[in-house]
Amino acid sequence: MVQEQDPSATQPAYGGAARSFHWITVIAVFVMVPLGLTMSYRGNTLDLWDDLTNNLYSAHKLIGFLLLWLIVLRLSYRLIHGAPPDEPTLEWWQKAGSHLVHWSLYALLLIVPVLGWTGVSLYPALDIFGLVNLPALAAPNEDMAKRVLDIHGKLAIGMALLIGMHIAAVVYHALIRRDGVFRRMWPKG
Ligand code: HEM
Ligand code: HEM
Repeated sequence: MVQEQDPSATQPAYGGAARSFHWITVIAVFVMVPLGLTMSYRGNTLDLWDDLTNNLYSAHKLIGFLLLWLIVLRLSYRLIHGAPPDEPTLEWWQKAGSHLVHWSLYALLLIVPVLGWTGVSLYPALDIFGLVNLPALAAPNEDMAKRVLDIHGKLAIGMALLIGMHIAAVVYHALIRRDGVFRRMWPKG
C-alpha cells in the first residue's frame, strides 16, 4: 500500500538556527517572568531582603542581560536571512495578524530587558551575585529608576499576555486547523 503524503511536510520551514533561537528564547522567557514576579513579591510586597531574594534578583539580571544579546543576535539573523514564506493556506488576516504579533514580540524582547538594565543603572543596583557589576547605562536617579522599572514590569506582563495569544494561535493551527504552521518551528520538523 502506498503511504499517503502529507502536503505540509514538503512546505518550507524555519531553518535550524532560527528554531534554536526561538526555543532558547522560549525557555529563557518562561524562567524570567516567574522569576521577576517572585523576586519582586518577596522584595517589594513581603519586604524580605534575604540572601534568597538577592540571589533571585541577581539571577534575573544575569539571565536578562544574556537574553538581550541573544535577541540582538536572533533579530540580526532574522533581518539578514528572512523567514520562510507564509503557510500557503492562511487567510490574509491570519498572515497580517501573525506578522503583527511576531514583530511586536521582537520589539518587546528588546525593549523589556533594555528598560530593566536602564532601571538598575538608575537605581543603581548593578551588582550580580556580589561578583560583577553590569556596565551603567545612566547616572543614578532613584525616582526615575522606580518609574522605569515599573514600565519594565508592566511591559513584561504585556509581553506574557501576547505570548499567551501566540501560543493559543499555535494550538489553533495544530489542533483545529491542522495546517503546517506548528511543524515550521517545531525543533524536529
Ligand atoms: C517566550 C515565548 C515565545 C516567544 C517570545 C515567541 C516568539 C516568536 C516569534 C518572534 C516568532 C516569529 C519568527 C519569525 O518569523 O522570525 C515565532 C514563531 C513561531 N512560534 Fe513562537 N514564541 C514563543 C513561544 C512559542 C511556543 C510555546 C510555541 C509552540 C507551542 C511557539 C510556536 C511558534 C511557531 C509554530 C512559529 C512559526 C509561525 C509561522 O509559521 O510563521 N512559540 N515565535
Ligand atoms: C526579557 C527579559 C526580561 C523579562 C521577561 C523580565 C520580566 C520581569 C518581570 C515579570 C518583573 C516583575 C514585575 C512586577 O513585579 O510587576 C521584573 C522585575 C524586574 N526586572 Fe526584569 N525582566 C527582564 C529583563 C531584565 C533585565 C535585563 C534586568 C536588569 C539587568 C531586569 C531587572 C528587573 C528588576 C530590577 C526588577 C524588579 C523591579 C522592582 O523591584 O520593582 N529585568 N522583570
